[in-house]
Amino acid sequence: MLQTIKVDKYRPKFHFSPASEWMNDPNGLVYFDGEYHLFYQHHPYGTDFGPIHWGHAVSRDLMTWEHLPIALAPDEKGMIFSGSAVVDWNDTTGFFGGKPGLVAIFTHHNPGLTRKESQSIAYSKDCGRTWIKYRGNPVVTSDTYHDFRDPKVFWHEETKRWVMVLACGQTVCLYYSPNLIEWTFGSEFGEGIGSHDAVWECPDLFALSLDGDRTQRKWVLLVSIGNEPHIKEGSRTQYFTGHLDGRTFIPDEASQTVRWLDHGRDNYAGVSWSDIPEEDGRRIYIGWMSNWKYANTTPTEGWRGAMTIPRELTLESRNGETVLIQRPVRELEKIRTLLIETEGEAVNELNLVLKDQQLETYEIVVEFKPGEGIDSFGFKLRTSEQEETVAGYSVKDSAVFVDRTRSGTVDFHEHFSGKHQAIMPPDQQSLQLRLLVDRSSVEVFANDGLVVITDLIYPSSSALGLSFFCNGKNEIPYQVRIYKL
Ligand code: FRU
Repeated sequence: MLQTIKVDKYRPKFHFSPASEWMNDPNGLVYFDGEYHLFYQHHPYGTDFGPIHWGHAVSRDLMTWEHLPIALAPDEKGMIFSGSAVVDWNDTTGFFGGKPGLVAIFTHHNPGLTRKESQSIAYSKDCGRTWIKYRGNPVVTSDTYHDFRDPKVFWHEETKRWVMVLACGQTVCLYYSPNLIEWTFGSEFGEGIGSHDAVWECPDLFALSLDGDRTQRKWVLLVSIGNEPHIKEGSRTQYFTGHLDGRTFIPDEASQTVRWLDHGRDNYAGVSWSDIPEEDGRRIYIGWMSNWKYANTTPTEGWRGAMTIPRELTLESRNGETVLIQRPVRELEKIRTLLIETEGEAVNELNLVLKDQQLETYEIVVEFKPGEGIDSFGFKLRTSEQEETVAGYSVKDSAVFVDRTRSGTVDFHEHFSGKHQAIMPPDQQSLQLRLLVDRSSVEVFANDGLVVITDLIYPSSSALGLSFFCNGKNEIPYQVRIYKL
């Protein structure tokens, strides 16, 4: 299919974005027959949120994507809101004549109805190229919930049935089914626990080994929380760890403090891929790199919305706590080339090397041994005389931060400009930052994925400067690698 790709100065180079027009949440993430499928909330006739379809792209390496025709379009039952997709390996649906096939489970959204949201399914016999909506739709409805959406479905091996986790107002409900068509209510989770700043959306539920030990598996529940005008952070995502028996999710702690997945402003509605082969064994996640606070006003032209870099999720014990760790998938290493590598040079010398560079899209991996008398250190990215995005670590505040106050165009929304930080006590040994810089985003992975900050930025195309800063002392032991992406 010939598709016009609309390009402007902010068009990401190594992040997924739609060929043109509006995009929000990732949907239907499924791996099948060598392809990673990425469907997404898409308004094909405008760069604002509008009648939502499922756009579609596929990739074999998670880095380069082929745009495909729209997979699902609105119908008499409503728009096609967020949802998931699975491989029905054993043809439990009976749609595939005994063979495996793809089933998408999504929300039909019709604001004109009293039951405005219900869950429907569609299936594909040709690797996701064309879809048939099930005649008996919807398959799950509710008389109780007005906000009732974003089904994430997976096969639960222990009980040998499908499980659906669904956002219901400010909780999630679990349903189960033998065939993806008939669903039974299992339980509800969320009252009195976690953040209730706004409506719950786009849940995901999956098991991970703790510290790579397969005998110690825990379930992780991701829940995105919508935007409310009085919440300055806008929309963001929290997570819980616990146990699942196929019907009920039991959290590890009855009153967990809120744990945010990302400490930047621009990682929302993220979910993980289904059916990644066991030999691979990874849990791979991608989020929508925007925020409902200002998503409709970002200054791009002809397209709007991008995804985060795909990230591998792991569960690890760090500083006596069980935490969800995010690292860019290893496939990223295939598209980067080493540009600069230095060790232990004085800050001035490093900056002399950086001064000659004109860098637009790149990765920085830096390791420090925080010494005495240092206040903060890090990098000034995408700089020009008037612009800079500052990403680094403040020893004084024990915090990783991104400051986009002077990052370029910031005036399209009063809440865009600002500094975002996350407390991360210094490790005795060293401190590591990994920065991914694209034409309109910066992602910071601190201490090997322990703390993540994802932020959009809109620098001018001529803001190509890069420098290192260290407030307090000129020389600290460090190692820096810079790759072109
Ligand atoms: C999350 C969300 C979902 C909904 C979709 C609509 O960003 O609000 O809850 O299904 O976007 O596009």
